[in-house]
Amino acid sequence: MNVATMQSHSVSIIGTGSYLPQKVLTNFDLAKMVDTSDEWITTRTGIKERHIAAENESASDMAVKAAVKAIKNAGIEASAIDMIVVGTVTPDMIFPNTACFVQKQIGAVNAFCFDVEAACSGFLYSMEIGRRFIETGAVKTALIIGTEKLSIITDWTDRTTCVLFGDGAGAVILGKSRSSKGIRGSIMGSDGNLVDLLKVPGGGSRYPSSAKTIEEKMHCIKMNGKEVFKHAVRCMCDAGIQVMKKCGCSVRDIKCIIPHQANMRIIQAIGERLEVSMDKFYLNLERVGNISSASIPVALDEAVQAGRIRKGDNLLLISFGGGFTWGAMLIEWGI
Ligand code: ACO
Repeated sequence: MNVATMQSHSVSIIGTGSYLPQKVLTNFDLAKMVDTSDEWITTRTGIKERHIAAENESASDMAVKAAVKAIKNAGIEASAIDMIVVGTVTPDMIFPNTACFVQKQIGAVNAFCFDVEAACSGFLYSMEIGRRFIETGAVKTALIIGTEKLSIITDWTDRTTCVLFGDGAGAVILGKSRSSKGIRGSIMGSDGNLVDLLKVPGGGSRYPSSAKTIEEKMHCIKMNGKEVFKHAVRCMCDAGIQVMKKCGCSVRDIKCIIPHQANMRIIQAIGERLEVSMDKFYLNLERVGNISSASIPVALDEAVQAGRIRKGDNLLLISFGGGFTWGAMLIEWGI
């Protein structure tokens, strides 16, 4: 596990934005599609509904909507953005990268652009990269996005997975902090021994698209739910504890925790292990489900808009995803 802290708090989030597609799919809708019920989904996951992108709405289209809001909230011009990093497992295409599609649509002509694939940790990994570029002085302003159209990699006949996922996008602008506030520390970790527990096996160089991969639904999410659950709790707890320790603070110093929103029972287990009450978490999974790399930035933007996070508050972001990949970031809110 790579642990990193900085002495000075020099990089800060200066604007946030998010976008959820218009169409809402409720548990009752799902109960008409597969053998499930609102009661089962609610008690096992905490999810009531999720947003589903339109057929012609791609990951970059959603990302652009979130990015435009973040740019506006930061009070900058798109031309001031030096780099765009997009965390996604549902890119518009294999290449060009989704960040280039975003660049084109928002007119960020001075940016260099790339995607990060770290499953549900894609946004936090992208934040860490943006932060480091700013700290070294290589760039001044970064647009960091998590965007997912998980509905296209969901097997809508598999009740064990299709009840979990949704679509959406969230974005932040990172810049040099005018005060000492900003990102205080981070932890990133991965365990490639567990690649098989959560994956979309088809469509890459190992199992290229073919009639067989389509027939076997290899382009859809395959998951060992019970194993994922166990590792998610352990890794997110450990990452949260380690980053707090490195930053010299305890959970009492944290105003708000935004975890990856995969399953309410995972978040409750984290709350029990960290010995914090559920009110300390900002939760939106009841309304949006699991949106992978978009999960944290969408929740973050909502929490900011709702006034849950104020200047000087310590905020803890914790992620976990396929790979496995995980991460935690502690931020002293600066705007
Ligand atoms: N509706 C009704 N019954 C269902 C459904 C459903 N949607 N899905 C499964 N069942 C049935 C199963 O078939 C099983 O029936 P059986 O006992 O007759 O065999 C029974 O319910 C219990 O199934 P389990 O898999 O044991 O249910 P569990 O309590 O483990 O919950 C779940 C499953 C919700 C997937 C859970 O394991 C989980 O949340 N795991 C974490 C995975 C996760 O959140 N992944 C998200 C992606 S990963 C990420 O974001 C990092």
